[in-house]
Amino acid sequence: MNNLTKQFFSIDRNQRIASNGHNSFLIWFTGLSGSGKSTLANLLEVELHKKGIKTFLLDGDNMRLGLNKDLGFSENDRGENIRRIGEVGNLMVDAGLVTLAAFVSPFEKDREMVRNILGKEKYIEIYVSTPLEECITRDVKGLYKKALKGEITDFTGVSSPYESPTKADLTIDTTGKELSECLEAILAVVLQKLN
Ligand code: ADX
Repeated sequence: MNNLTKQFFSIDRNQRIASNGHNSFLIWFTGLSGSGKSTLANLLEVELHKKGIKTFLLDGDNMRLGLNKDLGFSENDRGENIRRIGEVGNLMVDAGLVTLAAFVSPFEKDREMVRNILGKEKYIEIYVSTPLEECITRDVKGLYKKALKGEITDFTGVSSPYESPTKADLTIDTTGKELSECLEAILAVVLQKLN
């Protein structure tokens, strides 16, 4: 017994959805570092914002500079990172926002935990499946170079595993594609859930 009792308040998610005029849910982007998650999440948010939809974007690098700055990249720390984002994302969805989250989230059990926190009607998973070789070629942040030299440990795809999703609502490999093409595919999945 933890002596806690869940409190319910008059203004709940349903009231917020009604006053916003659209549904709220969490759009979870998973994939290797450099796969294009943050870029696509940003473009998607711009599109939704233009349509007057209330949104918020949570991103791995940014959250690790603040709320999750006490966490590293061991399997346990990544689990705690994703758990916290799942809970924060759930609050934002309760607040009526279409919430976007871009996290490597390499472990199936952690993504499953988020799906369970939200409930599957409020969770969309987008697997940005750009292959490792392409991410290494891009190496936008120069991290693969360091990881391959052994200067960063537990680096996803190099010295730590990435478990490919089996339940993604959409899988997108950005290799050789225009961003606009990728965005269109994502929008098709997201827009049908808005009303
Ligand atoms: S997660 O695995 O816990 O979901 P998260 O998305 O928050 O990762 O953070 C990943 C970002 O942290 C990467 O985009 C990269 O910029 C940076 N990073 C630093 N060290 C690592 C590492 N060992 N593995 C993966 N990403 C790392």
